[in-house]
Amino acid sequence: MTSGGDAPGMNAAVRAVVRACIYYDIQVFGIYKGYDGLISGNIEELRVRSVANILSRGGTFLLSARSDEFRTKEGRIKAYENFKKHELDALVVIGGDGSFTGADIFSREFDIPVIGIPGTIDNDLAGTDFTIGFDTACNTAAEAIDKIRDTASSHERLFFVEVMGRDAGFIAVNSAIGGGAVAMIVPEHNYPIEKLIKRLQKGAANQKASNIVVIAEGCQLGNAYDIADQVKAKLDYFDIRVTVLGHLQRGGSPTTMDRVLASRLGVAAVEGLRDGKSKVMVGIINNKIAYTPINEAIKIEKRLDPEEFRVAKILSI
Ligand code: F6P
Repeated sequence: MTSGGDAPGMNAAVRAVVRACIYYDIQVFGIYKGYDGLISGNIEELRVRSVANILSRGGTFLLSARSDEFRTKEGRIKAYENFKKHELDALVVIGGDGSFTGADIFSREFDIPVIGIPGTIDNDLAGTDFTIGFDTACNTAAEAIDKIRDTASSHERLFFVEVMGRDAGFIAVNSAIGGGAVAMIVPEHNYPIEKLIKRLQKGAANQKASNIVVIAEGCQLGNAYDIADQVKAKLDYFDIRVTVLGHLQRGGSPTTMDRVLASRLGVAAVEGLRDGKSKVMVGIINNKIAYTPINEAIKIEKRLDPEEFRVAKILSI
């Protein structure tokens, strides 16, 4: 199943799981609409050609949902009944931390082998250097910033661009460096507004014609509009605009990076189950497949790399 917020490359991961199962002579079923589909019995067998031509498609053909019912014991009992009815032996969940929390509980309650594949644009899971969809989302955000740069420099404006990430700044950091932003503000750091003001003043003194500040959603200083207002109150000479990129970051054809990652993780998930692994998330660390207990992948905070902030600072003068 795919569960939670969709991410580009989820289809590639489903394809890899299906094809790897068939390769190893394992019957495989798709559960539609995440845990809601398990509760309602929206389950059907997938065959080798069921997953033809989906490698390059964004979204998830299995559909996705954030299931409230699965949070309840009654919901999980219904899910277990369908699990047994279809004679399933193991569950592969492609999703993010919320989906993995559900998988972990379900696995413990009913003693079901479960393996997680990290699929979220947020990249906020420990136990993997990258989650499926993150690279595509960063490329989409950087491309949007490039376009904003054209208009920003034509009018010598200051833009605040808000990107997704829930409470993690990974998309913000990558798209800010990739898009040449003057500053980036992330939820993980306490960033005083005075620091931003100073940086913008320095740029203005250096004849910097256009400025782009990337704001991650969930920042301590507020959203992009709040931060723009705070700057406007202190620096009235800037002509300021705000763009919130929103859900367009979740769509589109996955990059090759995401397709390869999804393909590798899908095969490794099936091979992990065959080796008797359970309650683990399959990830990639230093370009090697790694299995991490699901509860660690959810609980351990994945930290932003200070090196990236150092590089961004050097380049934003
Ligand atoms: O987790 C992926 C994500 O896109 C976050 O970046 C964002 O905060 C959230 O999902 C948005 O959720 P929804 O699509 O339910 O509005």
